Amino acid sequence: MYERGEDGWYAIGAMAEVFGARACRGIELEGVKIGLFLVDDEVHALDDICTHGAALLSNGEFEGHEVECPLHAGLVDVRTGRALSAPITRDTRHHETRIEADVLYVRLQA
Ligand code: FES
Repeated sequence: MYERGEDGWYAIGAMAEVFGARACRGIELEGVKIGLFLVDDEVHALDDICTHGAALLSNGEFEGHEVECPLHAGLVDVRTGRALSAPITRDTRHHETRIEADVLYVRLQA
């Protein structure tokens, strides 16, 4: 359970605790599944449910700045949420993140 600050930012935790051996993981913020992806010391947060189906992007193959959906292998750019290849045609919602004193914060977009 993550606590929401008055300004809408959720404190997710210390970076070392959020990301272990894997550079991506899924969390849930007030019922919304969010995928967190680490790219060059920056964290990108996307809706975790693929816009094509019911798979979780954070369970996919993640390399560089692209994640491959585990169900039909569509590609998403985690830096923007942009759909990169079929069968994914709709972009994925991208959320704000910031790292402060090594703690990751996420704020959901409307
Ligand atoms: S569910 Fe993700 S590509 Fe089909």
